[in-house]
Amino acid sequence: DRRVKIAPSILSADFAALGPECRAIEDQGCDWVHVDVMDGHFVPNLTIGPAVCAALRPHIRTVMDVHLMIAPPEPLVDAFVDAGADMLTVHAEATDHLDRLVAQIRERGAKVGVALNPATPEEAVRYVLDKIDMVLVMSVNPGFGGQSFLASQVDKIARLRALIGDRPVHIQVDGGISPKTAGQVVAAGADVLVAGSAVFKGGSVDQPAVYGDNMRAI
Ligand code: DX5
Ligand code: ZN
Repeated sequence: DRRVKIAPSILSADFAALGPECRAIEDQGCDWVHVDVMDGHFVPNLTIGPAVCAALRPHIRTVMDVHLMIAPPEPLVDAFVDAGADMLTVHAEATDHLDRLVAQIRERGAKVGVALNPATPEEAVRYVLDKIDMVLVMSVNPGFGGQSFLASQVDKIARLRALIGDRPVHIQVDGGISPKTAGQVVAAGADVLVAGSAVFKGGSVDQPAVYGDNMRAI
């Protein structure tokens, strides 16, 4: 299914109403729910952990796409799988043993993604491409929503698509995705788009139709 998927990031949602917000974006037609986990160590922000993910699980009917911006990730992998993560994405920069880590996640029965920060070349995933389900290309420096898209990442997306070849591996792009930037990343080979501020801006749990309009505009 080559249709581009939209995965709204709940980092930009109302943190006092994350359950209803997850239901609202799914009612408005999102494909996945992107959950940004931050530890205040790997990135300079601290958001939510496994307990909140577990609480959100009953409110997510589609895919709980968990983006782990934590280091080290190994000690918490089981907790996030147990919390119900369908896709668990770890940063290549957050572990010394990426091959072993992706195997650990797959053994637990979750799909596995590897995220690359803007300065990390696509080559970093060359030797795990047969063991993963997705590569997440960060088009901002991780930690916050509402940042500007880094155009340097378009070239990386295209090179990555060539490297992946005909393997069934998604390319997810995350950061600064909007109607202005989505076209070029899809043209370069991305098939899953994460968007936080572009989806949630101007809306609220009481005005969810705005989320649908924003998603369709991307
Ligand atoms: C940043 C997160 C992104 C972020 C995207 O560290 O990984 O998912 O929430 O937010 P926008 O779409 O506003 O750039
Ligand atoms: Zn993210």
